Amino acid sequence: MPLQIIRHDITQMNVDAIVNAARPSLTGGGGVDGAIHRAAGPDLLAECLRLGGCAVGEAKRTKAYRLPCKYVIHTVGPVWEGGNAGEDALLASCYRASLAVAEASKCKIVAFPLISSGAYGYPKDRALQIAVEAIGAFLLQSEMLVYLVIFDRASFAAGSKRYADIAQFIDDRYAAAHEESARERRFRAAGAAKRAPAPPLMAMQASAPADEDLSLEAMLAGLDEGFSVTLLRLIDQKGLTDAQCYKRANIDRKLFSKIRKDPHYKPSKPTAIALAIALELTLAETEDLLKRAGYALSHASKFDLIIEYFIRQGNYNVFAINEALFAFDQCLLGA
Ligand code: AR6
Repeated sequence: MPLQIIRHDITQMNVDAIVNAARPSLTGGGGVDGAIHRAAGPDLLAECLRLGGCAVGEAKRTKAYRLPCKYVIHTVGPVWEGGNAGEDALLASCYRASLAVAEASKCKIVAFPLISSGAYGYPKDRALQIAVEAIGAFLLQSEMLVYLVIFDRASFAAGSKRYADIAQFIDDRYAAAHEESARERRFRAAGAAKRAPAPPLMAMQASAPADEDLSLEAMLAGLDEGFSVTLLRLIDQKGLTDAQCYKRANIDRKLFSKIRKDPHYKPSKPTAIALAIALELTLAETEDLLKRAGYALSHASKFDLIIEYFIRQGNYNVFAINEALFAFDQCLLGA
């Protein structure tokens, strides 16, 4: 199952396990660690003290006491020292080790805070990138649902240098699309009074070639291949398995099998786009697939422009796309 980036307070999450960004002594502290201990009550500290600490990059499990989840998995992130002290590898190891503990504990749904991105000083966008990569790699061989919980969303605003190219791409096209539609509106308003009335439908039909059958039945009989049938054909053409496809699309197996079983299934637009991304379709192919579900990509939508940007870049990593969508406050692909 997929990765979801959400904004929430992790202590309120009713999942199998939440992960704590702890200190090596596991004796509680500030930030998310403090919030988890406060919400769980003193029994959590008593159990933590029996664990004998935890090394950086490793993870240990306790019960969750008064928290709504079943377990707390405590991991210790690296302190940011400028980036040349092996911090990235240690941080990735926190996610892997915590996920291994979650898997051994048969957890199906796990929530992570953004480890090391508070008191330990990691640059937030780098911490997010490492989290997404590490969790994304794990999910290629697991059906777990993982939430990455962002507490202070403002720090990920699209202003970050990392997204400067995307912001520019949006600016160039988004403004143009909006100016154009304003111009069109003015033009329509000015021309409305002078324009001749539109020809009645019957008159338009009369001008069609005499041998063309314009009955509703005839048009319905000529319906194009639907979304689901096209999708399955493309999966075969690309030599992908179903599992490879839904994992790359960040959608869960159940949703995929619904689409597979129902030739008339109409996916949501983010799901349809996620599948186009999984298939690594070109922009024209993506437009074609979307049309079969009744959608289009527009320059008047930031969401659509971000998708177009990634497709033009040839970057089909759904997690990287979701990171950017999150930064620009758009809904995410898949899940
Ligand atoms: N839910 C989700 N995320 C939260 C919450 C919450 N309730 N509260 C804070 N965050 P930090 P670290 C976010 O400092 O950098 C402790 O004292 C917060 O916005 O909690 O790994 C420990 O004892 C930030 O993005 O953890 C250690 O000594 C992220 O959680 C040290 O801090 C991590 O911030 C660990 O530092």
